[in-house]
Amino acid sequence: MEVLKTLEDLQNIRKNIKGSVGFVPTMGALHNGHISLIKKAREENDIVIVSIFVNPTQFLPGEDLDAYPRKDEADKKICSMCKVDYIFMPEISTMYTKEEVLVKAPNNSYVLEGKTRPGHFDGVLQVVLKLFNLVQPTNAYFGKKDAQQLSLIQQMVRNFFLPINIIPCEIVREEDGLAMSSRNVYLSAQQRSDAVLISKSLYMAGNLISKGERNSQVVKNKIYDVMSPLDVEYVAVVDRNFNEIETIEPKNTIILVVARFGNTRLLDNFWL
Ligand code: PAJ
Repeated sequence: MEVLKTLEDLQNIRKNIKGSVGFVPTMGALHNGHISLIKKAREENDIVIVSIFVNPTQFLPGEDLDAYPRKDEADKKICSMCKVDYIFMPEISTMYTKEEVLVKAPNNSYVLEGKTRPGHFDGVLQVVLKLFNLVQPTNAYFGKKDAQQLSLIQQMVRNFFLPINIIPCEIVREEDGLAMSSRNVYLSAQQRSDAVLISKSLYMAGNLISKGERNSQVVKNKIYDVMSPLDVEYVAVVDRNFNEIETIEPKNTIILVVARFGNTRLLDNFWL
């Protein structure tokens, strides 16, 4: 495994790769969620490239950019164990200049995460487009945990005619059901044990729907009931285009929840 820091190093390596390239973009502090993406990439491609870059443009002022966990050495070990071929770990000055041509997320994405974090997805798309252009992957792997992010990246690939397959990957959870996240380390012991209610509420919703419930409001109310001890930011029942729907359609519905624990926001979702 080789760690690449500069554009030139990455571009020189890329030029000489003949087979398929699987790419996993991350912000590091790797956990089993990231590892599942890397393993899938390893199974499906000749060469695997992981990027580790805490992208400043997707953090809003006052968010946790400075506090975001950085675990470079542990991340390198994990990548090496997963038989990654190359890690791309650029500096901010390598990725960005002062004034840039910008990518803008579509207006209809300013709902849910896009509404709470206006501009966040612009920054995500900006950096992912740059990374795609550098890495030129055959297949790129994204978690369903960040459902809106995944959907916007699929749209960017379509809109900009990028010759890349986007591979959605299932959500990986802790034993008690909490979706893995680099931000879980911010939780106190009490918050960590309360956080189990997030996934519990989604399992309960899944059960209700499998028994035939189709009314979104009924399902949302039950989710709010289960999460009542928590500071719930939103519960939404949407179609694959992230439009809120009144009637649940199996195979075309995503249930999204966000709960706040102090300054930490935890997202989870359930895809029908
Ligand atoms: P990051 O939060 O590090 O996540 C990297 C990838 O891992 C994303 O595709 C995310 O959806 C996936 N992931 C995170 N937790 C997961 C879990 N529990 N199960 C399955 N997949 C999980 O998302 C980003 O970084 C950034 O926005 C990025 C795309 C790298 C652009 O900066």
